[in-house]
Amino acid sequence: MIKESSSPLAKHMVNTLRDAACKPIEFRHYLKELAKLLIFEAAESLPLCERKISTWQGNFNGSFIDESRVVCVSILRAALPMQEGVLEVLANAEGGFLAMKRDEESHKSRLYYDRIPDLKGKTVIVVDPMVATGSSLHDAISLLQERGPDAIVTLNVIGAKEGVEQIASAFSGVAMHIAQIDPYLNKDAYIVPGLGDAGDRAYNTPG
Ligand code: URA
Repeated sequence: MIKESSSPLAKHMVNTLRDAACKPIEFRHYLKELAKLLIFEAAESLPLCERKISTWQGNFNGSFIDESRVVCVSILRAALPMQEGVLEVLANAEGGFLAMKRDEESHKSRLYYDRIPDLKGKTVIVVDPMVATGSSLHDAISLLQERGPDAIVTLNVIGAKEGVEQIASAFSGVAMHIAQIDPYLNKDAYIVPGLGDAGDRAYNTPG
């Protein structure tokens, strides 16, 4: 299921990221803020619990997100600011990491590091700003599904139409919350208009 944001604020922030004048510190800032906006939109997929708290008026039974059953997984490295944003909102959720390298010839991804907590009975929020061919997100979701979570949702900033549709058809049970869908990929599998290489832009490295 694909949910493209209709928020003018999402458009504002995505287009700010597209601007070549957006500096790395601003770039990381807007990735983080976009992740916060997207997690608000995705919150209906998160597990809830009731908790008794004491307030200035005495005991109160309130509804909370069950953070003990939420894991936010980032695909290094451009997703790191997004993970930071999610973990600022859900301060007691767990974090996990996957590192994948894109082969510039085949455009396929290769996993070379994973550090994922136990996922049984958990809802996993996968953050990955750019969905180009969808290959790394596809491999990430497949790997995470094998570890038995209750549900998987993704937060993405820009996706190429074909990559997003590929993920949606491969994983019908995964809710994909995306800020903006762009029309196509170029021959090097970069999203057009996109914003270039998100990792390089966030961390000030030459392409
Ligand atoms: N990864 C990026 O950072 N940008 C693209 O356009 C495609 C993949």
